[in-house]
Amino acid sequence: WNNAGMQSLIPVTNKVQDVLNKAGSSESFELPRIAVVGGQSSGKSSVLESLVGRDFLPRGNGIVTRVPLILKLIQDQTEFARFQHKENKTFTDFDQVRKEIEDETMRITNGSRNISPIPITLEVHSPHVLNLTLIDLPGIIKIPIEGQSEDIEEQIRDMILTYIKDDSCLILAVTPANQDLANSDALKIAKEVDPEGNRTIGVLTKIDLMDKGTDARDILENRGACPLKRGYIGVVNRSQKDINEKKNIKYCLDQEKKFFAQHPAYRHLTNKHGTPYLQQALNQQLMEHIRDSLPKFRKSLLQRFADVEPEALKYLSQQFDDRGESKMLTTRNKIVQQFIHDVEAAIDGSCSQI
Ligand code: GDP
Ligand code: NA
Ligand code: MG
Repeated sequence: WNNAGMQSLIPVTNKVQDVLNKAGSSESFELPRIAVVGGQSSGKSSVLESLVGRDFLPRGNGIVTRVPLILKLIQDQTEFARFQHKENKTFTDFDQVRKEIEDETMRITNGSRNISPIPITLEVHSPHVLNLTLIDLPGIIKIPIEGQSEDIEEQIRDMILTYIKDDSCLILAVTPANQDLANSDALKIAKEVDPEGNRTIGVLTKIDLMDKGTDARDILENRGACPLKRGYIGVVNRSQKDINEKKNIKYCLDQEKKFFAQHPAYRHLTNKHGTPYLQQALNQQLMEHIRDSLPKFRKSLLQRFADVEPEALKYLSQQFDDRGESKMLTTRNKIVQQFIHDVEAAIDGSCSQI
């Protein structure tokens, strides 16, 4: 596991949690969740997989992802995976993880082809990951196939909305480049919960599959029919053939890089597309989120100190003199100041690495 582009945030988030712990705050620091939305087979699971840099999700044409998968990346000393529904078993083989996702999906849906809102929760522990939750969701489909309920479109939409309506959830709106953007299910549903586009990042997949003579340059330069506040990032994921031939992630990242570098329509946009850039963009968003949360933490810390104050003040005034109160205030403000300063320094430090 090596979500490389996002690792620079590890020291920042650790710092925040560390200070909160030291101050005895019960608050635990959480980064926003990241959810992928889009039409069926637009490449959602593929995007998620390449973001975490491991090959473990079921992918393919048709409705493969039929229940939400909540993927919790957890920083730990050793590397293993564990499912919430099978707490006592640890997995180290990620082909087995994929198989367990498939099996559990079948159990949840009673062997049918239906979808279910009951999620699978998978924890992945590793020394190399940022504590982060990613959510893979079933794709939007319009017409039920045999064995699916008539209202499947509605069911899927409701399920997706449950996850993305949370104001802090980052939305990766996945649209395949070989389809018209105006028909994008991803953009439509993202807009319902985030009309301003503050937390939506457009991801354009299958750029390698566009019709000859067409390209996605306008969209990638955000000059297309549906501009987004945060723009679009183009990616080339593994094709079904790559998956069948078990091409590894590293090989495919190299292929992706080559594809963009050699294509006349994209060459000039180097560093503005591809999976590594998507990671950077997410990093940036998460960083902004931490910055935005600082006032909240400041408040929580001050509150925490206010709670312990009466006792501490009594102690101080007994031990020292009547000026215990003002000493206490100074100490408290100093600690909080130091906290804000440390976190900002950590953020700046990690920004400069990008
Ligand atoms: P999901 O249904 O949205 O989760 O889509 P998947 O990730 O399962 O992908 C559906 C199919 O499209 C798979 O066979 C993938 O290999 C293929 N695919 C996804 N993204 C790309 C891409 O960028 N290029 C190509 N050639 N195939 C892709
Ligand atoms: Na699919
Ligand atoms: Mg999927």
